[in-house]
Amino acid sequence: MNVHVDIPSIKPLIGDKLANWLATPRPMLIDGKWTPAQSGKTFAVYDPATGEKIADVAEGDAADIELAVRAARKAFESGPWPSMTPSQRGRLIHKLGDLVLEHADELATLEAIDNGKPKHVARAADVTLSADMFHYMSGWPTKIEGKTIPISALAAPGNQFFSATRPEPVGVVGQIIPWNFPLLMAAWKLGPALATGCTIVLKVAEETPLSALRLGELILEAGIPPGVVNIVTGFGETAGAALAAHPDVDKIAFTGSTEVGRLIVKAAAGNLKKVSLELGGKSPNIILADADLDLAIQGATAAVFFNHGQCCNAGSRLFVHRSIFDRVVEGIAAEAAKIKLGHGLDSATDMGPLVSQVQYDRVTNLLASGHNEGARAVCGGTGVGGKGYFVRPTIFTNTNPSMRVVSEEIFGPVLVASPFDEVNCALVAEANNSIYGLAAGIWSNNTAKAQALANRLRAGTVWVNCYHVFDAALPFGGYKQSGWGREMGQAVLSNYLETKAITTRLPV
Ligand code: NAI
Ligand code: MG
Repeated sequence: MNVHVDIPSIKPLIGDKLANWLATPRPMLIDGKWTPAQSGKTFAVYDPATGEKIADVAEGDAADIELAVRAARKAFESGPWPSMTPSQRGRLIHKLGDLVLEHADELATLEAIDNGKPKHVARAADVTLSADMFHYMSGWPTKIEGKTIPISALAAPGNQFFSATRPEPVGVVGQIIPWNFPLLMAAWKLGPALATGCTIVLKVAEETPLSALRLGELILEAGIPPGVVNIVTGFGETAGAALAAHPDVDKIAFTGSTEVGRLIVKAAAGNLKKVSLELGGKSPNIILADADLDLAIQGATAAVFFNHGQCCNAGSRLFVHRSIFDRVVEGIAAEAAKIKLGHGLDSATDMGPLVSQVQYDRVTNLLASGHNEGARAVCGGTGVGGKGYFVRPTIFTNTNPSMRVVSEEIFGPVLVASPFDEVNCALVAEANNSIYGLAAGIWSNNTAKAQALANRLRAGTVWVNCYHVFDAALPFGGYKQSGWGREMGQAVLSNYLETKAITTRLPV
């Protein structure tokens, strides 16, 4: 494992255009105009690989949320958006997907310097999946259909009715997103809200506001009318809380910590706005004795270390059949040793830093708790130290369910591994022994057996002989305290739709 981290100077690597864009404080998108905060305040954005400031952005708060919500309301009630045909709306969303691809390099660069992830990964995963999301969603406006329903009530000679349902947009939508996939989370949220005809106030994470602001420029370039998408940069306790509590917001969609998810639910109670939540995870990854070991080792490595472990669906609890336990753990440790830590703009980098000092402290404190509670670090086990928020990929064995590293979401490159003897109720209970239920992995050459096990896992996604396979068409979301509702696929549309039943008496 390379623990020495070379940090290049970013200026020559990002190009003049982006350097100029970053040189002036970035305003917010409100009612189609680039707008500074009402307070005039800005806050700094940092490169997590160096801890150095890379830009300033507007510090939006309740006053800016107010303006953004008013703009979204106006755009929902009047103007071109509500009178557009579904086909016109779909074409605009498709255009946005095209523009994301056209600007892929620039967007990937922003993700690398703002979030810390390798640019080549951001290009292949975050940017591609964001464009896919818009392209996929662009097909829905013309396909969101109601039903005709035969009714029996009041049936009598002379009483005849025609009943039908009409799905309608829920209205003004507040969306609050995290920093682990800044552009992709914006796309996951905006795509379905646009497809259903809603208008939006998007509050991006304070750690990583840049790519969404650039996306805002592309939203205008695509021709999406003013006020349909408003983007506010600011902190959770101020801007985020004001959005969640706002009485004229019809629905709030949140991705982030389970703790803040609870605050969102409370804040939403004021006007009983609809709520969808995508929260934490502590997902089990189970390797059966008959698995293809090379595939399983590679897969289990990626399951936990992809995006530096900063994935809500990270496969962070590994269960391996005792007969192959040592080989698998050694195999993953050998893979971890090959992971090159570095700056996201260095093409040789496999893993960047964690996103912030706060996350570094959180993850290294959890690592310390693992050591103190008696877990054995097979590899890693510490932060790198020095510049940037780098943490070494870590595998803990000798764990038990009462340890914090086993029960808590770590959101860093940390795996806990334990052996099992049989695929039985005890294994299923252990895999399901979490307040979360977001995802799970199973590795086996006996697909029927894997399928049977998949059915018993309390998780919104189960991957068999693969992991982290996301697609705009596949619903994603959590059981238990991992959330409410689903992102993506046809399933997400219901988060943004109301159903109106219209009954008409027919002349006889
Ligand atoms: P967070 O839940 O505080 O932040 C996520 C978003 O919520 C940000 O936009 C933030 O500004 C906003 N927010 C924070 N407080 C708010 C409030 N009172 N009202 C409205 N919005 C608010 O997550 P944070 O602090 O960045 O990370 C803490 C932990 O959360 C991580 O260690 C990880 O375990 C988990 N997390 C889970 C994510 C997921 O994808 N499910 C993503 C990010 C974090
Ligand atoms: Mg927080």
